Amino acid sequence: MSTLNNKKIILAVTGGIAVYKSAILLRLLIKQGAEVRVVMTESAKEFVTPLTFQALSGNVVRSELFDQDAEAGMGHIELAQWADQIIIAPATANTIAKISYGMADNLLTTLCLATRAPLLIAPAMNQKMWHHPTTQKNIKKLSAQSSVFLCGPAQGEQACGDTGFGRMEEPQTILESCLDCWCEDNQQSVVLKGKTVLITAGPTIEDIDPVRYISNRSSGKMGYAIARAALDSGARVILVSGPVHIEVPQGVEIHQVRSAQKMHKKVFSLVEQADIFIATAAVADYRPITKNHEKIKKTNDRLNIEFVKNLDILSAVSSIENKPFCVGFAAETNQMKSYAIDKLKRKNLDMIVANQVGDDKGFEKDDNELSLYWFKENDLQEKILPFSSKKNLARQLIKEISFNFKDS
Ligand SMILES: Cc1cc2nc3c(=O)[nH]c(=O)nc-3n(C[C@H](O)[C@H](O)[C@H](O)COP(=O)(O)O)c2cc1C
Repeated sequence: MSTLNNKKIILAVTGGIAVYKSAILLRLLIKQGAEVRVVMTESAKEFVTPLTFQALSGNVVRSELFDQDAEAGMGHIELAQWADQIIIAPATANTIAKISYGMADNLLTTLCLATRAPLLIAPAMNQKMWHHPTTQKNIKKLSAQSSVFLCGPAQGEQACGDTGFGRMEEPQTILESCLDCWCEDNQQSVVLKGKTVLITAGPTIEDIDPVRYISNRSSGKMGYAIARAALDSGARVILVSGPVHIEVPQGVEIHQVRSAQKMHKKVFSLVEQADIFIATAAVADYRPITKNHEKIKKTNDRLNIEFVKNLDILSAVSSIENKPFCVGFAAETNQMKSYAIDKLKRKNLDMIVANQVGDDKGFEKDDNELSLYWFKENDLQEKILPFSSKKNLARQLIKEISFNFKDS
């Protein structure tokens, strides 16, 4: 774990019930060697007085944008430029909304706009506020920015009595996310340096006739986010993708395919180069036995199409000699854990990433929750990556894969 020696951090505190936890976060940051300046919104001061943060940080707490004394010293623009990082913890729905729209109506939001330092946001709010489509839209907009990192929210019991997503992550977890941001700059950019990661993504399309096909709801978002994260960690990344509507991250070697058979063939032409194989694609299990060369006419009341099983690309890769480190995905609607572990064993994988699909989860979404399973000396290991943007999850997943790849 790296430290925050000499790092200049603005701890931005907004008006949520979790403010008291930020005092602990402040202590943890200082313990890691960071120099911390605290900025509070007016609402935050309703929960904890600035004096607490002033005493813990050894610096005056700033709140006012139009503060003549402060502007005579370190003005808001200087403060924004001084910071190596801004952490907003807790981040209220209100402040998230404002910064997602680029508003600058108080010191905190103005700093966010005036800085080029990375922004780590730890949302904290009632679960209904978190799940509200407006909050979700704002979060999505923010997390699409490369300098914005999300930590949480966590799931559990809430101060208001509700249960669900919206709790602020624990201070230790926020500290670790903060360290990760620096790790990424200083060290993580080389964790997979010299390694080749082969990734499959998106759906496959199985043609019935020249105008009709069978496919699935995979959007490719997770696979493309993993490709981006693997690239950021220094790897050479080869992506074999089914048809999707996502921009290919610059630097990724892309091979576009349509059907499961084409994906299988392409993967096998590339797999020898791979140190790590991550199979996120939702490959069609079956394809029509015959593809009609002409459009099937609407003459009969019933139409029977016979399907044949496609080859299992992941199983095939994991059974080759000198196989790469193989990571599979299991998208399940029920009994997720038991199906995932069964797949891990049956396909002889090094790791399986399970996620729940159906209703409002999984496919086509920008956020998800992942459960990772693998065996370490015959003992089953489990790690939950809590509900977050796919970009965030991809970064955490690549980190876990790189740890386990090194040990394998
Ligand atoms: C007791 C109490 C607790 C609150 N807790 C939260 C919270 O956890 N998260 C949140 O987004 N808003 C919460 N609010 C509402 C915010 O304080 C309110 O939206 C405020 O305008 C936020 O301002 P700020 O973002 O400038 O700090 C709470 C309000 C009250 C009265």
